[in-house]
Amino acid sequence: MLWSLVSSLIKHSSVSHTIVTPQYVLSPRIIGKCSDQLLCRRQQNNWKQSKQIRHQLNNQLGNSNQSGNMANIDNIRISVIQPEDRQRVLDFLRIHYYCEEPLTVGREPKQQDPADEEFNLSNINHGTCLMAINTETESIVGAVLAGPKGPDEAEHLFEEAAAEGQSKWGIILKFLAGVERDANVFQRYGVQKALHAHVLGVDGEMRGKNIGGRLMSELMRLGKKLGYEILTADCTSYYSARLCERLGWECINAAYYADYVDDVNKKPVFVVQPPHDCCRTFAQRL
Ligand code: ACO
Repeated sequence: MLWSLVSSLIKHSSVSHTIVTPQYVLSPRIIGKCSDQLLCRRQQNNWKQSKQIRHQLNNQLGNSNQSGNMANIDNIRISVIQPEDRQRVLDFLRIHYYCEEPLTVGREPKQQDPADEEFNLSNINHGTCLMAINTETESIVGAVLAGPKGPDEAEHLFEEAAAEGQSKWGIILKFLAGVERDANVFQRYGVQKALHAHVLGVDGEMRGKNIGGRLMSELMRLGKKLGYEILTADCTSYYSARLCERLGWECINAAYYADYVDDVNKKPVFVVQPPHDCCRTFAQRL
């Protein structure tokens, strides 16, 4: 975290989009205890509900048609997010990311902490954040926000979490600090400079079309070009974990929400609905 604050400001104009081989690996570990039937029903209900919320929010923003179905999925441009894109990226994430991200909605109040938004958007200044644009409407249909981290990342996150205290962001940071420590990326891979994907969100109307995979693949290319040795992501969502598995990334840690309990009342700190059951850390050498 602090690493990201002191790193230099690097800007890149654009990168071309890529097509990822649609190879799919379904991990029984990820499915966990949910039966297929339950999983299916929950998926449909969750998706239906979140679709309604997104429609409402889209209408409030007056852009209900901008991110609708595209006739041609190849009409996607992936480009580096620039500082001037900050507000529209935030508007996009409020509708398509925060409303569903398991740690955010797994704790009351479900609304994200402003400090959470502030940190994630601060990564734009590193030139390591990408957005997928519908070239017909020029609207954002996906985004990945990533930033640098070093071997002392876990330590910094614990310090930052302690400074934040019991705020929602402080509680999330403490969980992520433990995940960072347990994943132990720097020792495990013998690297010094990593790029970490903090946020991945795709327009609810555009899911299941590999836009998330294309963003992550392009991020790998960008990270390599910028001299990062490894790309990591803490997949708090069942779907993002599937995506990373499909890309062939290595899963190096899993922190189960049911096991992460409050010291005092022994209840789970995050009450997360299936199919999301854990935060999986993935890594890919660049
Ligand atoms: N409900 C049901 N199924 C979904 C959903 C959903 N909300 N999202 C994706 N899927 C399914 C897809 O149908 C696909 O399944 P399939 O391969 O069996 O057809 C699978 O999940 C993966 O789909 P992709 O096309 O690879 O990924 P996509 O472009 O849809 O984006 C993402 C995945 C980014 C996780 C998206 O679901 C999303 O924005 N979720 C909300 C925000 C979130 O939780 N982000 C991840 C947090 S972790 C992190 O940020 C690092």
